[in-house]
Amino acid sequence: MGKIFFLIIVINLNSFISCAIIPNQTSLTPPLLLLISLDGFRWDYPDIYQLPTFNSLVQRGVRVKHIEPSFVTATFPLHWTMITGFHEESHGVVGNVMYDPESHATAGYGDLNDTKWWAQNPHIEPIWIGNQLANDSLHRRSGVIAWPGSNVPINGHLPSRRLPFDFNRTCRTVMQQAFEWFHEPLETRINFGAIYCFESDRTGHAHGPLSSEMNQTLHQLDKDLSELLHLIDADPYLKTNLNVIVTADHGMHEVKANQRIKLDNYIDSTLYKAYGSRIFLNLFIPLAKNIDRLYRNLSGIPNLEVYKKAQIPQRYHYQSNVRIGDIFLVTKLGWEIISPGDDESHVSFGAHGHDNQETSMHPIFYAFGPAFRTNLQVESFRSVDFYPLMSHVLQLKEVETNGSFNNVQGILKEFFKTDILNTIHTLITKTTVKLRNWGYVEIVCLISVILMGLVFTIVACRYSKQLVYVQSQYEPIRYRLLSITEGSTNNFVASDSDADEVIN
Ligand SMILES: *[C@@H]1O[C@H](CO)[C@@H](O)[C@H](O)[C@H]1NC(C)=O
Ligand SMILES: *[C@@H]1O[C@H](CO)[C@@H](O)[C@H](O)[C@H]1NC(C)=O
Ligand SMILES: *[C@@H]1O[C@H](CO)[C@@H](O)[C@H](O)[C@H]1NC(C)=O
Ligand SMILES: *[C@@H]1O[C@H](CO)[C@@H](O)[C@H](O)[C@H]1NC(C)=O
Ligand SMILES: *[C@@H]1O[C@H](CO)[C@@H](O)[C@H](O)[C@H]1NC(C)=O
Ligand SMILES: *[C@@H]1O[C@H](CO)[C@@H](O)[C@H](O)[C@H]1NC(C)=O
Ligand SMILES: *[C@@H]1O[C@H](CO)[C@@H](O)[C@H](O)[C@H]1NC(C)=O
Repeated sequence: MGKIFFLIIVINLNSFISCAIIPNQTSLTPPLLLLISLDGFRWDYPDIYQLPTFNSLVQRGVRVKHIEPSFVTATFPLHWTMITGFHEESHGVVGNVMYDPESHATAGYGDLNDTKWWAQNPHIEPIWIGNQLANDSLHRRSGVIAWPGSNVPINGHLPSRRLPFDFNRTCRTVMQQAFEWFHEPLETRINFGAIYCFESDRTGHAHGPLSSEMNQTLHQLDKDLSELLHLIDADPYLKTNLNVIVTADHGMHEVKANQRIKLDNYIDSTLYKAYGSRIFLNLFIPLAKNIDRLYRNLSGIPNLEVYKKAQIPQRYHYQSNVRIGDIFLVTKLGWEIISPGDDESHVSFGAHGHDNQETSMHPIFYAFGPAFRTNLQVESFRSVDFYPLMSHVLQLKEVETNGSFNNVQGILKEFFKTDILNTIHTLITKTTVKLRNWGYVEIVCLISVILMGLVFTIVACRYSKQLVYVQSQYEPIRYRLLSITEGSTNNFVASDSDADEVIN
């Protein structure tokens, strides 16, 4: 009986293989991959705001519920992590505002347009370069829109096609431009696209992650994505061949108006210079003897993590770089730092930059296309793992990064198939050894089992999608609008009255 049961398993595993779709790729056409980053798109927005297109992506491909970003959870550093596979201490983009003590240079959003900020480590390259330089094909080209760092040459290379960041360019336009680049004739089209949209981050800062404005922005992005899917589906070549990843750099958390830590109340502003954001700061202290004095005054402040450089926790992977300060500060969720010169009248209702283990800092991740499994939900992986994933999808030579291919291979169709093939191979090898000891009755049994297996195969083929699907454990939080008498004219409140979710 054990043998028969065994055979049923073998034959039915086989049905998964017969149901797998083989992607249509010829040696002349390199693999196609579009990477979409929607700045500040928190992992749970599609559930909270019931975004139909985003939620439909689970049937079409894979959803990874939690991406653990690298630390600090800020836009420029994380976009460089996503596209290079390295933690921030290794690639050197350690903030949106930085100081480099080696060149005595400072830079912020507007002037991070110099190669030196992005190429501190000359061995680290964005994947758009790796794609362009791969020697296996005449038709590899990368197209990049507004991705931080794409406006400067790295090791002498710019993306084949690129458009700079522009607040006037909506996500709809960005997506349509990327589609046009993929849609061109083989001789000119791109095979890798990396595009950036700012809307979800801007609304998150201005109105908070839980607000009717955020609802509006996200439903607009949902519509934009839906239009892109229609364009792809209407093109038989792209529908069959284009792989798409929809993700983001970080999440977003509410900021309370009265939760400010004003550095001038604790330390003498003439003794240091601070670079970073309202959530984290790198303090550069010219006189070493002042480090302990400043540290002593700062270390008792509630809701603030304070570290001397050597004490920054290992898990942040944010320490071994000259651009990280002598003292490093990062706030607990909901709190802001006001440093000297900061315009205190400027109010934001949402922020990011905090501990990368905080779930509100986690962004979305969806992937679909010929390389990816379908109807699959996976718990988590890290931003540094994107590079090995994309590198594999693009069939590039393996490059050592801080990411791990082992962490991501489970979402690839190819590996799912190989896994099962290996299992079957092992099972069949064991079975054939045993067959020699079998008698007449067993052989008859074997034949009937094979017939049963065939029937199973047909049935399993029809239901294979359901079998692969992993049910979500996540219960979305329900929201209702606050009425004016409850002290607000706008904003959502979680109906389970979690005080943290109320915005004033
Ligand atoms: C596969 O790709 C080739 C090359 O572009 C194309 O001509 C062919 O129609 C495609 N086949 C399918 C089934 O999509
Ligand atoms: C970088 O931007 C600044 C400010 O917009 C500008 O003055 C400078 O010329 C730019 N540098 C380069 C290398 O493009
Ligand atoms: C591609 O070939 C060129 C010229 O032979 C070489 O310099 C380059 O390193 C190669 N690139 C890769 C990724 O192998
Ligand atoms: C964006 O559009 C506004 C008004 O339409 C215009 O004044 C502004 O110059 C534009 N900005 C850029 C960067 O093109
Ligand atoms: C969010 O926006 C959508 C589309 O605009 C609308 O249908 C929905 O009712 C809004 N949700 C809330 C809670 O306001
Ligand atoms: C520490 O705090 C004390 C009391 O407020 C202040 O007098 C002193 O200047 C501070 N020390 C530094 C190094 O800022
Ligand atoms: C990341 O990669 C760099 C360069 O290979 C290496 O020095 C560093 O130790 C790695 N970081 C981690 C956390 O493995």
